[in-house]
Amino acid sequence: MRETSKEVPLQNFDGKVAFVTGGASGVGLGQAKVLAEEYGAKVVIADILPNRIDEAAAYFRSPDRKDLPVRILQLDITDRSAFANAADEVESAFGPVQLLFNTAGVSARVPAEKATYDDWDWHLQVNLFGAINGVQTFLPRMIELGEGGHIINTGSIQSFFALPTTALYSTSKFAIRGLTEALRVDLAKYDIGVSGIIPGAVHTNSLDTALARPEKFKNTTFSGHDGETALRKILASGMDPVDLARITMQGVLRNDLWIFPYPQFIEQVEERHRLVMNELMKWQDSVETVDTIR
Ligand SMILES: NC(=O)c1ccc[n+]([C@@H]2O[C@H](COP(=O)([O-])OP(=O)(O)OC[C@H]3O[C@@H](n4cnc5c(N)ncnc54)[C@H](O)[C@@H]3O)[C@@H](O)[C@H]2O)c1
Repeated sequence: MRETSKEVPLQNFDGKVAFVTGGASGVGLGQAKVLAEEYGAKVVIADILPNRIDEAAAYFRSPDRKDLPVRILQLDITDRSAFANAADEVESAFGPVQLLFNTAGVSARVPAEKATYDDWDWHLQVNLFGAINGVQTFLPRMIELGEGGHIINTGSIQSFFALPTTALYSTSKFAIRGLTEALRVDLAKYDIGVSGIIPGAVHTNSLDTALARPEKFKNTTFSGHDGETALRKILASGMDPVDLARITMQGVLRNDLWIFPYPQFIEQVEERHRLVMNELMKWQDSVETVDTIR
């Protein structure tokens, strides 16, 4: 079954307000640029890191962009009351948010056996609860507005299979997959579409962001990435965030479930699904056994 392109809640983004978490860098900044410059959306960039915010502000202050409707605010998406305040501020300045891009995320490769609670909390609080906080903040407002909308969550290829030393990240990104599918089922009746972006490598600042950990999650053994040079090479050869954002907007306008423009992973994902099916198929002639156990 190809779960894609059902109803299309939003026909265009012109004049719509988009809220992009992690919008001052990488994937999120690419989305902000494309939304504002190519789709006529009003864009709110919400990010935690002051240096990234300054860089994004400088970009949008340039003479040819300074009239674009872009607001940049500092927000820690793990702070629920700050999130609600940001939503109020944005609504009064720009109008109601109809596009929520839950894009902010962090990834520090800490092997599970060395992970602290702060390691777990940081990844889950930003990557999963950051998205949940976005949904909790904006979904009731979208429903009340009654004009449809779209929620776009950022997963990862690691929403589909785990790589070594990625328990923290994979746990959060598998959960994003569940959140996305479940919301999609429930929100169609409100004309709110839900899509998940599944990037492989993207050329972003994520390795540096992993070193800019907030004080409240500071207890960790992590001091740098194993194989950093190789990881930097992989990211540097990854997709340009603006290209990914262009593909993303097309996917959102089609209301695709997964926006997954990395055909190089076809075999690996197929293999992963085969493995799951094999486990399930083992039981196909065992209805009696299952009934007996029950
Ligand atoms: N770069 C890749 O190869 C890749 C691959 C798959 C998925 N992703 C996903 O893409 C998303 C964006 O990552 P990126 O690669 O652009 O990295 P990035 O570090 O360039 O951008 C992430 C942004 O999120 C912000 N952020 C972090 N914690 C925050 C918080 N608590 N509140 C608000 N903002 C916060 C950071 O300041 C940063 O500006 C993440 O969800 C990541 O998991 C990236």
